[in-house]
Amino acid sequence: MLPMWFNKWNRENPTNIYGPAILVGAAGVAVTVAAFIVVVGQPFKTESLQTGPRGTGMSRPEFVNQIRDADPTIAAYLGRDQITEEDIAGVSDAALANLPPNLPDISDERYAELIVAMRAWTGIPDLMEDPDSYQTQVAYTMIGMTQSINENWIGHVQSNAEVGVSCYSCHRGQPVPSEIWFRMGPVNEATEGWAAVQNRVTVQSQYTSLPSDALETYLLDYGRIGVHDLEAHVAAYPSEEGYPTWQDTERTFSLMNYVSNSLGVNCVFCHNSRAFYDVEQVTPQWSTEMLGISMVQEINNEWLVPLEGLYPPERLGPVFADAPKAACKTCHKGYQRPLQGLNVIGAWPELANIDPVLD
Ligand code: HEC
Ligand code: HEC
Ligand code: HEC
Repeated sequence: MLPMWFNKWNRENPTNIYGPAILVGAAGVAVTVAAFIVVVGQPFKTESLQTGPRGTGMSRPEFVNQIRDADPTIAAYLGRDQITEEDIAGVSDAALANLPPNLPDISDERYAELIVAMRAWTGIPDLMEDPDSYQTQVAYTMIGMTQSINENWIGHVQSNAEVGVSCYSCHRGQPVPSEIWFRMGPVNEATEGWAAVQNRVTVQSQYTSLPSDALETYLLDYGRIGVHDLEAHVAAYPSEEGYPTWQDTERTFSLMNYVSNSLGVNCVFCHNSRAFYDVEQVTPQWSTEMLGISMVQEINNEWLVPLEGLYPPERLGPVFADAPKAACKTCHKGYQRPLQGLNVIGAWPELANIDPVLD
């Protein structure tokens, strides 16, 4: 195809054109990337929250392009100031006639407002209409639970500011809140030894092969969270009572994984990762979590588990037919502070057992 003289000349003058071509190509790509970064901005820019002393690497970095916009559920939150006369007129006398046991002194007007709000927060349009319905019965307990969380766990739910918890913190407009959980138990019984409830893709194990029973062990039962044996040689037999084994280690990491994902943070949000066990090198949020663990144990054991008999069967757990339970993510939903720190009790003192602001 090419003229003879060219092929001949080519054979006689072999030249490596790949070296220079790659060089020129690479330079071209570099110029294009540089121009892109100048024009569009650095796509992998991070912003970080420093959580510990300088030089310890304690920070929580996030890609700027992934820093989440406002929690979309905040916009749908119904506050007292949004409730209209028309809404109130929609609450029947029958609903008003049955005051919940934990709100004995509430006025009719206030209770009507609260009913309107509770219906919006839980997405149950006729909540409280029928005193015999299981939903109304459950709601009575939920009111007591919400008051108790706000009154007894201020160190957690107001650790930074007046934030508190309302029905919406968990429910977000749904009768069944997202991120609830059920007991799994040692389901993989076929394996001898430490089946560890592992290698089963469950939400509870955060889709890892870590044990799936961390929530029930630590946030329902009162299992001891811990991994460390600080001795160079193992100081006791793993079978000894109260001695953390590697099973406990895996389970602890499973829980910590869950906690981090619940809040959308990493481990150094609470720990100095060179010494996870050392409570003198933790951040203030570590203590907030400590309180949170006790709070969740109480929510589950004193409020949610006793409701078991009220729910219809389809609401119960798939393995043990147990009552639905709550944990960190039921309120936090992946955010460091639920509803990004929105104050949900200021306008609803009834739910916080704080003195009502009379107007
Ligand atoms: C009943 C709802 C609820 C549950 C359940 C809950 N939290 Fe919280 N948590 C809150 C609220 C509300 C705040 C915000 C308090 C504030 O900002 O003053 C908060 C704040 C925190 C903070 C402080 C964040 C910061 O920026 O200072 C940490 C840490 C935390 N929670 C961890 C947990 C962990 C871990 C669990 C589970 C063991 C848990 N929470 C369960 C409601 C809850
Ligand atoms: C700490 C989280 C949390 C808070 C706060 C909370 N709930 Fe619940 N609620 C739950 C869980 C978990 C269930 C069980 C879900 C199910 O029914 O399957 C539930 C169930 C219910 C149900 C039954 C729904 C159904 O169809 O089965 C009603 C009604 C209800 N809650 C009302 C309320 C009201 C009213 C408030 C506020 C006064 C409230 N809840 C506050 C966690 C919460
Ligand atoms: C929101 C705060 C928080 C976050 C985030 C967190 N932890 Fe923890 N961690 C705690 C608290 C509180 C304890 C102590 C619980 C107890 O003693 O009952 C603990 C305990 C531990 C322990 C047991 C230490 C011992 O005494 O044996 C280990 C290990 C651990 N965390 C690892 C991690 C890892 C790994 C991550 C990240 C995947 C992580 N943690 C994320 C708060 C946190």
